[in-house]
Amino acid sequence: MPNNWDALVDFDKQHIWHPYTSLNHPSPVFPVISATGVRLTLADGRELVDGMSSWWAAIHGYNHPALNAAVEQQLKSMSHVMFGGLTHQPAIDLSQTLIDITHDDLQHVFFADSGSVSVEVAIKMAIQYWVSQGQAKKQRLLTIKNGYHGDTFGAMAVSDPDNGMHHLFDNILAKHLFAKSPNYGDQHGHDSDAIEDFERVLKDNLASIAAVILEPLVQGAGGMRFYSVAYLKKVRELCDKYNVLLILDEIATGFGRTGSLFAYEQANIVADILCVGKALTGGYLSLAATLCSSKVAHGIGNGKHPTLMHGPTFMANPLACAVANASLSLLVKSPWQQRVSTIAAQLKQELEPCRSERAVKDVRVKGAIGVIELHKPVNIHWMQPRFVELGVWVRPFAHLIYVMPPYIIEPADLSRITSAMLQVTSEIHQ
Ligand SMILES: Cc1ncc(COP(=O)(O)O)c(C=O)c1O
Repeated sequence: MPNNWDALVDFDKQHIWHPYTSLNHPSPVFPVISATGVRLTLADGRELVDGMSSWWAAIHGYNHPALNAAVEQQLKSMSHVMFGGLTHQPAIDLSQTLIDITHDDLQHVFFADSGSVSVEVAIKMAIQYWVSQGQAKKQRLLTIKNGYHGDTFGAMAVSDPDNGMHHLFDNILAKHLFAKSPNYGDQHGHDSDAIEDFERVLKDNLASIAAVILEPLVQGAGGMRFYSVAYLKKVRELCDKYNVLLILDEIATGFGRTGSLFAYEQANIVADILCVGKALTGGYLSLAATLCSSKVAHGIGNGKHPTLMHGPTFMANPLACAVANASLSLLVKSPWQQRVSTIAAQLKQELEPCRSERAVKDVRVKGAIGVIELHKPVNIHWMQPRFVELGVWVRPFAHLIYVMPPYIIEPADLSRITSAMLQVTSEIHQ
């Protein structure tokens, strides 16, 4: 690595916070100078095969000509204008596409600047809906344990109370309700214990519950847990039975990752409010959206407080909307289902041998997501550089070594990632 990079990395270490790290004991960071296709190029010239899609986002790989062209084209007319009192073609086109590709009930779109903010907006929508119905006491949410919905205060408050950040901010976080999470070993049944617990919490607290919020089928950052279609269906039935709204957070699962365009499609259900983000722009720019049904939108609009109280500065940023339009067009025209199922089959086959390692508790695959769960938490200070030595970019956390590669990955590159996962797992000293 050229000398000036040593100085830059040192500056970084002293002054810049990276996600979930300590400035006093930072884990190593690797300077990256470019990314193309499924490869990240480090400053020292090494190339890494990307297993992370930059946290579920870069589904088409990096530096994609169609996405680059969309940004360049948009840049020529305007990079940003405020959305208060103005509108523009990229936002209108993107709303149209989102309405077209999601369930028919979802007809209204609020653009947010990140996934967490779209969750905040979803929570506000749900609460404001009930205020508009004269039920201002309905201000709590019901969710399941092991969830993750983002790092802002509203989103943190509905994320897992034990493996999240609740202990640090307990006195200030809104007090929501948490039911048992469904058993992730049970991919076919609906886990009757978990659903009974869910119904009990819902029934006992109905007067104060505005909505249920869930990540459909895959709980991501809260533990990479997969749960059954049957459980999700039951949750929808119970939301209908007790008349509460259902917010589905598809920020991680959306745009094909679990094998269907949206995970909720597998349960043949619809959300009242839907959050999307991450892969929305193909990983180019930060953009998310909260969609809702006419019942919710007009419920709020016909109420005593008809204005939805949110309006970020960079709402519907035209560059982000333009690249999202290009990314969705690329996705729907591509054989993404076949790609995702090919990745799934390969992950299943190639990760399975890990199961016999002493360090391994479970191996599971859903769509283009492959997970090795360990008995003990990973030592990131050792494991991260080891993956880099092996020529792949995999970012483990907690007890998990997991991957969700770009959909365009070729089998040989995916094998490189799975071999590195096997190798690293075999080197863990328990
Ligand atoms: C399911 C889910 N919801 C919300 C978020 C938060 O999104 P963002 O990091 O864009 O704020 C994430 C991020 O990992 C997520 O996985």
